[in-house]
Amino acid sequence: MGTDATGAGRLWGARLQAAPADAAWALGVSTAVDGRLWRQDLAGSRAHAGELHRIGVLDDAEHDRLLAALDRCADLFADEAFPFRDDDEDVHGAIERWLVDDLGPLGGKLRAGRSRNDQIANDLRLYLKDATTGVVAGIRGVQRALLDQAEVHLGTDDRPATLAPGMTHLQRGQPVLLSHLLLAWVWMLERDAGRFLDARARIDESVLGSGALAGLTLDLDPAAYAASLGFARVAPNSMDAVAARDGATEFLAAAAILSVTCSRIGEELVLWSTAEFGYARVGDAFSTGSSIMPQKRNPDIAELVRGKTGRVVGDLVALLTTVKGLPMTYNRDLQEDKEPVFDAVDTLELVLPALAGTIASLQFDVDRLATAAAGGFSLATDLAEELVRRGVPFRDAHEVVGGLVRRAEQAGVDLDGLDPAVIADAHDALDTSVAELLDVRAAVERRDASLGTAPGSVRVQLEHARRLVGAQSDDRPGREGGA
Ligand code: ARG
Repeated sequence: MGTDATGAGRLWGARLQAAPADAAWALGVSTAVDGRLWRQDLAGSRAHAGELHRIGVLDDAEHDRLLAALDRCADLFADEAFPFRDDDEDVHGAIERWLVDDLGPLGGKLRAGRSRNDQIANDLRLYLKDATTGVVAGIRGVQRALLDQAEVHLGTDDRPATLAPGMTHLQRGQPVLLSHLLLAWVWMLERDAGRFLDARARIDESVLGSGALAGLTLDLDPAAYAASLGFARVAPNSMDAVAARDGATEFLAAAAILSVTCSRIGEELVLWSTAEFGYARVGDAFSTGSSIMPQKRNPDIAELVRGKTGRVVGDLVALLTTVKGLPMTYNRDLQEDKEPVFDAVDTLELVLPALAGTIASLQFDVDRLATAAAGGFSLATDLAEELVRRGVPFRDAHEVVGGLVRRAEQAGVDLDGLDPAVIADAHDALDTSVAELLDVRAAVERRDASLGTAPGSVRVQLEHARRLVGAQSDDRPGREGGA
């Protein structure tokens, strides 16, 4: 198919008297971006050829020839040898042009009953379904790295569980098990994975049969497209089907929230690996040196995990901004939907394995963590709650223990360094026996509610998380994979 001076050889040129200006064409051409959707586009074309065959627009021989040509076309894409031409506007047009080159007029029959508006909506939905599977697998990898570390640090018969300072305001608050802290990230990531899976359930609707916007006069069956492409159901409204991009937006929102989780984990790793914290050392394979300071050992990978967050949040904002203000139905602005989606997927594909590897490489300084957990008057709450158990209003207990902390601080000791007699003197309800409470392991053991940091509770929690993370990412109802 040649392109003449008016551009009539293009998908839409016949109506117009002039070929597109170079500047206009340059702005509109999108093959470099949407060429990435060739798999999805060809899957849609196969399904469509099947429907055209069923209603008699294609006879048996034509149907066979078209399917064979679509296979050859897929091979070219797979070999990165598809011959894009400068006058191909987008992946849909390029494939049709190639089919016409390959098959002659038969190649032009496939356009009946569809529009690039429903084609691109279909392609993007198929892509997002697949991308969800990949991202969730990446999240599982990070969770597994955290779970493995949590398991190791839960201790054995001859090695006690690793303690860690639990912080608020980046100040030591109460002692916890390191495993409890690591599992906190696992649960946050679990909800991140859930957001992608929830989005996919909404994206899982077939749009072919919508045509440009109103549905078709040809007797094509929307349910047949859904079945052949593996969609859970058919979209209820053709206008919504070609205009909506909330599925992609929701995917990007999930990506942005996940990126923020990863960034927060990255920040922990950066802090832990400072000399000042000294809680953990990132393995050599996930550290970098300095080009000038020979002693340096930098957590660049954790920093990059943190740093990549800006662009993923930006991807979400870009798509929201693109869609804002668009009237029904398809508008060409929507062509800008794909780059942010691809960028977010590509970024997460880099970030998640690097984060998982960094976590797996961590060597924790168990002694330093235990010292930090015990310091900072971190058992003050335990003492105050003991007073509550002995009938003292918490408001008073808080004040009494605050006074003891002040005295300990003046004496340059922690609470367990105070003379038990001093503690006993601080309130009628206190006696020297409460000094026994001031043991950090006992303090952790006491927090034995299901969500608490006691070793038994954390063991149950860990097993629960393992079961969830070990489950297939496709295990929820209504989420069969895309084509
Ligand atoms: N390439 C377009 C996109 O990605 C699809 C083409 C629809 N164009 C049109 N003029 N109706 O959204």
